[in-house]
Amino acid sequence: MPTLDFLVRKTDLTLTRVREREDMPLAPGQVRVGIDAFALTANNVTYASFGDAMGYWQFFPSGEAEWGSVPVWGFGRVLQSTHPGVAVGERLYGFFPTASQAVLTPGKLTPERITDASPHRAELAAVYNQYFRCASDALYTADTEDVQALLRPLFITSWLIDDFLGDNGFFMDGADAPGSRPVAVLSSASSKTAYGTAFALAQRGQVDVVGLTSEPNRAFCESLGCYTRVLGYGELAQLDAQAPTVYIDFAGNGELRRRLHERLGGLRYSMVIGNTHVDQRAPQGEAKTLPGPRPTFFFAPAQIKKRTAEWGTEAFGQRLAQAWRAFTARATDPARPWLRVARHAGPEALAAVWQEAREGRGDARCGHIVSLKTPAA
Ligand SMILES: NC(=O)c1ccc[n+]([C@@H]2O[C@H](COP(=O)([O-])OP(=O)(O)OC[C@H]3O[C@@H](n4cnc5c(N)ncnc54)[C@H](OP(=O)(O)O)[C@@H]3O)[C@@H](O)[C@H]2O)c1
Repeated sequence: MPTLDFLVRKTDLTLTRVREREDMPLAPGQVRVGIDAFALTANNVTYASFGDAMGYWQFFPSGEAEWGSVPVWGFGRVLQSTHPGVAVGERLYGFFPTASQAVLTPGKLTPERITDASPHRAELAAVYNQYFRCASDALYTADTEDVQALLRPLFITSWLIDDFLGDNGFFMDGADAPGSRPVAVLSSASSKTAYGTAFALAQRGQVDVVGLTSEPNRAFCESLGCYTRVLGYGELAQLDAQAPTVYIDFAGNGELRRRLHERLGGLRYSMVIGNTHVDQRAPQGEAKTLPGPRPTFFFAPAQIKKRTAEWGTEAFGQRLAQAWRAFTARATDPARPWLRVARHAGPEALAAVWQEAREGRGDARCGHIVSLKTPAA
């Protein structure tokens, strides 16, 4: 059965194409997974835009130097297996290529997870090489696969950002007036990772959570109820310059970050998370020239490591599961959902969704789920 690959030109993310290729027979110890559906958000565009710098093109080599397969999060089923520990029919959640099928080489197996031990992935971040076995995954429910694919890889970061900031006392210091409230300013406030973070921060009840967004997404952000205030990108003058503030940057917009650093004398921490404003990235080295704290990339695995050492792996998992359930219950509340799933099938639909995600022009309430599965697969 041929595999459909959706490829993006590495040096020009506006260019895409579809390729069909005959499948190679499996080597001993491999499995072929039929990818049923995956989510596509700005996060995947960021993977592509940092494809060379951060190794994202290396997960699923296309075999063509100029073209890459963008990694996506989704669900699949084992179609063929030459591995004694993985049965045909098993359902998996994890990191897949934008394709209809993928070949994995399971290494370490536990009842909960399969680690892909393909040599080309050995040097890449371990978190992306693990596939959750749905039958024994604590966060899995069969009727919420779309929401899991969309929100799960994002919410874990949201939850860890909130935890990291709380763990560091929001970088307040002894000079702050007793009882003064920290302020968290989030860019691209309409993004799923930002509003997941705002949801977690708001639950603390002691942080002012300010969302920065573009005009078309202002009403959406205001409707969420987890932002204390929502401001446009041109309204930074409304921020209290002296309040103890942390900046959580999902937009990665260099000009915006400079304006914030220049305005906020009370800025205590500047956290680099994403780059939704893909065409407005800061020039290299610019961070060093900013007034205030040096922007710092948030390395989620470090916080996972710290907390699993402090709490234990089981308690870490339980806390995450509890937070995940609270967040998804709110985000998918049928009476007033934050997220509406839109399903798409086939390469043409995927090409359109890709362009929409890349340009950031879609409805912020919409979460796209795509399938490239061929009818026979
Ligand atoms: N470091 C990590 O571990 C980590 C983990 C998860 C996510 N992230 C990052 O967080 C960011 C958000 O990802 P997401 O999947 O949550 O996003 P999303 O839900 O798809 O967010 C869409 C929003 O991003 C903004 N946007 C997207 N493309 C844009 C463009 N071309 N120009 C201007 N604005 C654009 C718009 O928000 P506004 O109008 O509000 O600006 C848009 O509503 C990504 O950069 C992602 O890589 C990082």
